[in-house]
Amino acid sequence: MQRKVQVDVARRFFQYLEGRTTDYARAEMPIPAYTYFDEKYAMRERNLIFKRRPIVVAHSSEVREPGDYVTSDIVGSPVLVVRQEDGRVKAFSNVCRHRGAKVVTEEGGCGATRFKCPYHAWSYNPDGSLRGIPFEEGFDNIDRDEYGLTELPCDERHGLIWAIATPGEELDIEGQLGEEMDLDLQAFELDQYKLVRKAVFDEPMNWKVAADGFLDPYHLQFVHPKTVGPFFNTNVYTLDVLGPDVARLVVSRKSIHDVRDQDPEEVEILPHIISNYILLPNTFVAVEPKHFEVWTISPHPSEAGRCKITLRFLLRNEPQNEEEERYLEKNWKLLLMTVKDEDWVVGRTLQEGLGHGLVEETICGRNEAPIQFLHGNLAAAMNGGEGAMEDADAPYPRTYGNLVGDLA
Ligand code: FES
Ligand SMILES: [Fe+2]
Repeated sequence: MQRKVQVDVARRFFQYLEGRTTDYARAEMPIPAYTYFDEKYAMRERNLIFKRRPIVVAHSSEVREPGDYVTSDIVGSPVLVVRQEDGRVKAFSNVCRHRGAKVVTEEGGCGATRFKCPYHAWSYNPDGSLRGIPFEEGFDNIDRDEYGLTELPCDERHGLIWAIATPGEELDIEGQLGEEMDLDLQAFELDQYKLVRKAVFDEPMNWKVAADGFLDPYHLQFVHPKTVGPFFNTNVYTLDVLGPDVARLVVSRKSIHDVRDQDPEEVEILPHIISNYILLPNTFVAVEPKHFEVWTISPHPSEAGRCKITLRFLLRNEPQNEEEERYLEKNWKLLLMTVKDEDWVVGRTLQEGLGHGLVEETICGRNEAPIQFLHGNLAAAMNGGEGAMEDADAPYPRTYGNLVGDLA
């Protein structure tokens, strides 16, 4: 985080804690309940948002050297990420050009010189080009140059590797992040960190139920009274919308009270805050004092009421001694307990409750501006997207109320 931002955030927190206030949206935002369970809506969301926008598919440390590779998916579309000889990364559709089997079935590996499809052993080079066809007389008439793995738009910045599940789409991560976000992330040196743990969860809730939970400084003391709740100030946050798809959400630890009488220009604020960098549509980078968590929350490929949540835990280095090992173990356990036994227990009840259609809409308060930011962004994409309003009778709202940046 840039120094000037630290000063600004410190100043705002000191004021907010004093005045028992926070950043507010201009108005409450009703969110239609069907956006959480309607299958047709979920399909539109997958097509208009998840197939068109950049999605984080890996951390740079998962593919360090040429030939290193990792498999991933974008809402069910299998993706293969490979570090190239020139140091750049490429992403491919992990689908064999012969008859469509998944080419690489393992999670990842190092120093590959080729990828072989398990079905009829067609093989591909690390740059995606077709390398070999067994019994190739059967394919006399095809142009082999045309049968490489399908390359997907891919970009790497701040240690995150993004891809778009549609070949040929334009991808400009630097532009999308914008200068402010870019400088903030740069200051954290996220690209110098290493992935030390990764977990994937299949949860019975719409992806937005889980996403809302990460954007919610209002629930901390209520849902987490024995885990993280006692360490954070509930319902106090700063939110800065830095672009149409990016925002900085910061919450404070209780320890901030110890430094509240200091000059914001002088105070060392980072140990007392947790920043959450919101990279829409579905990635949240949480900055803790000694580690990062990258959360990516994706819709299920065919069910509105299910999602896939990927957690990447990053440390500057693999733990070098027992103390660092303990730090990792303790934080990992706390994290899993907080989300699995607390957040998602409530999340499942939301999904059940909303899914019965007895409630037509939920209401997001002025003190829930980060959630409003997410839903405003999604509404704009759903309604501004090509073909989004082709069905004139569809109950999709043009906006949910306050759109991007519309903060009081
Ligand atoms: S489907 Fe891959 S080689 Fe046949
Ligand atoms: Fe929570």
